[in-house]
Amino acid sequence: MLLLYHHLLCLLTLRHHALVKAQTVAKTYTGWDCCKPICASTDNRPSLLTTRGAVRVCNRSNQPLPTTAGVSAVTGCQPGVNTNTAAYLCDTYQPIPISNDLSYGFAIQVQDSQAADHPNCCKCYQLRWLTGAAANKTMIVQVVTPGGAGGDVKRGDMIILTPGGGVGPLGQGGCNGMYGGGYNWGGAQGGVRNRQECERLPGGLWGGCYWRWNWAGGVVNGWDVVYHQVECPGRLVGISGCVA
Ligand SMILES: *[C@@H]1O[C@H](CO)[C@@H](O)[C@H](O)[C@H]1NC(C)=O
Ligand SMILES: *[C@@H]1O[C@H](CO)[C@@H](O)[C@H](O)[C@H]1NC(C)=O
Repeated sequence: MLLLYHHLLCLLTLRHHALVKAQTVAKTYTGWDCCKPICASTDNRPSLLTTRGAVRVCNRSNQPLPTTAGVSAVTGCQPGVNTNTAAYLCDTYQPIPISNDLSYGFAIQVQDSQAADHPNCCKCYQLRWLTGAAANKTMIVQVVTPGGAGGDVKRGDMIILTPGGGVGPLGQGGCNGMYGGGYNWGGAQGGVRNRQECERLPGGLWGGCYWRWNWAGGVVNGWDVVYHQVECPGRLVGISGCVA
């Protein structure tokens, strides 16, 4: 009887461990540099195309490129690139509010390595904010770029792709190449400072820019989150064309 009880306890313990998901504690930031996502390349490992797929990319008219053309296209953020043949971030990667407490979207996950075959490419994570105006709200994001750390931004942090969320360290070149130079993208870090300034962006990006002020309720930068991996929603896979 005692032995049986011991076994039962072990089983329960094992089961408990299996159910506890690895949680990452991190911070969220926002960004939108119009650059081709890094998970859109395969680092000369074509096998990734048949297993994981490659993140969909667009030409400067926001039209998706065929997969193999997208993988080999040069990023629009390379100085002096031909903007007619370069690849950019599609406007479909904007945040999508699903309900008052849930949004979908895409993210740069800060990593030590920015290789295109990074194992976290195309994985999805469910984030829950602990601080900031979005405290207790959740968001499911798919990773489309393994990003680099810098300044306050550390390994594990999530930079949520948000138009007007800041063009980041590469500057405004990618967005100028994609949309022309007539727009104001706000500060490199943090981007536009309020909802009205979203209207300085190309019209097709206003909705995603408004998301920050309407749904999240503020800047999002530096807000604490916990997150764990989840199965990717079909809606996100349908946009990115990629799943891991
Ligand atoms: C983008 O792709 C679409 C569809 O293939 C094409 O009609 C359009 O001319 C392309 N735009 C540029 C700038 O190449
Ligand atoms: C978040 O949820 C916790 C526990 O349910 C609650 O105590 C807390 O007040 C909530 N915070 C906000 C900002 O709603």
